[in-house]
Amino acid sequence: MVNKVKGTYDVLNDEIKIWHYLEDKIKKITKKYNYTEIRTPIMEYSNVYHRESEQSDMVLKETYNFKDKGNRDLTLRPEGTAGVIRSYIENKTYATTDLYKVYYHGPMFRYERPQKGRYRQFSQFGCEAIGYKNPLVDAEVIKLASDFIKEIGLKNVVVEINTLGDDKSRENYLNALVEYLTPYKDELSNDSKERLTRNPLRILDSKDKNDQKIIENAPKPIDYLSEESKKYFNDTINYLKIFNVSYKINNKLVRGLDYYSEVVFEILADLKNFGSQNALGGGGRYESLVDELGGPKTSAIGFSFGLDRLILAIKEEEIEINDNNYLDAFVIMFSDNELNYGLNIINELRDKNFIVDFDFKTRAFRNQLRRALNNNSKYLIIIGENEVNNKQVTLKNTKTEEEKIISKDELINILEKEIR
Ligand code: HAM
Repeated sequence: MVNKVKGTYDVLNDEIKIWHYLEDKIKKITKKYNYTEIRTPIMEYSNVYHRESEQSDMVLKETYNFKDKGNRDLTLRPEGTAGVIRSYIENKTYATTDLYKVYYHGPMFRYERPQKGRYRQFSQFGCEAIGYKNPLVDAEVIKLASDFIKEIGLKNVVVEINTLGDDKSRENYLNALVEYLTPYKDELSNDSKERLTRNPLRILDSKDKNDQKIIENAPKPIDYLSEESKKYFNDTINYLKIFNVSYKINNKLVRGLDYYSEVVFEILADLKNFGSQNALGGGGRYESLVDELGGPKTSAIGFSFGLDRLILAIKEEEIEINDNNYLDAFVIMFSDNELNYGLNIINELRDKNFIVDFDFKTRAFRNQLRRALNNNSKYLIIIGENEVNNKQVTLKNTKTEEEKIISKDELINILEKEIR
């Protein structure tokens, strides 16, 4: 027997309707905010992700890297942002618009330890607003993300927001943080020890109990903000109020990727049984990615949601999703003698855009009926010898059980009236 790859899963009947539901909501929300779709490749040259400034665990330890037959270094995308920026630069999109608002959704790959809500192949829906820096853009992006949650129907969700400040504020803060943590070096968990030189900001995010105790009294980014960054954050908050977004300020919020500065945010599931992977989405402003990848200095902000986790939250909150999988009619034929007549009717109905199916090989009435009902067919079109001889069909409404014999010519008129 062959098995699925560890950390991946199949989406089957019951779940696919939730995926379709989410995909409909993505279309709706992005249209409302005037974002256009972008589809970038799933694989990129490794240097799109592996950059000097990106020392996050996610990029250093969790990417799927391989060489193609031409000995080129490729990486399966672990996130959407860097690929979108690569495309923005390569297509010189900056020359055509001052604010490029795009969205994407699709599979991402990270070699992580699989658990509930954490997979090696997962899907993201993300938005990026690339072009200029303005707190109103930040507020609108956060508004979009929180509106999306509302649109889906999720109630137990919190939006947390923080600021990391501009480059100067960040540098001052990192110096203060390292100075504070260095005397505790031997007491820190192994992961945090390693991060102290490579990525000290991430120590704030440590789940280790002892690390958390040490961090409690650590300096906070907010105390090292430049006046400009303070104002930027306050302006963003004021716009969030105008947009009516509920949020919580979390001074400890740092993100898993290194490209952020200024405003960062996360959208968290606030559900008892959800488990530790409760970040439904997250994002923030990034100001160096475009020039690092070879483009002009450009500020941008974006976020992405993990669709797999949204699906877990939808299930947990028991949001009802109408299954619009149905047939208008199922054609039942008693024997192969009725096949030609039946196929003719099926063709005509499909030409008129009715959703129709039939059984290819079984002629036992009960089995055909079961298949019709399993497919949520609104009508049965029953054809036996009499119907063929009289150019008629028996039309049965599966809900009311009302049944009538009608001429073949009347069939389309009646269905048009009843269904449309
Ligand atoms: P991220 O926080 O790394 O940000 O991922 C965003 C979301 O993807 C997470 O909140 C989570 O819901 C989902 N996710 C991440 N890893 C996994 C996994 N292994 N299994 C299931 N879901 C997962 C980014 O990726 C940034 N690109 C967001 C962004 C866009 N920042 C600016 N623009």
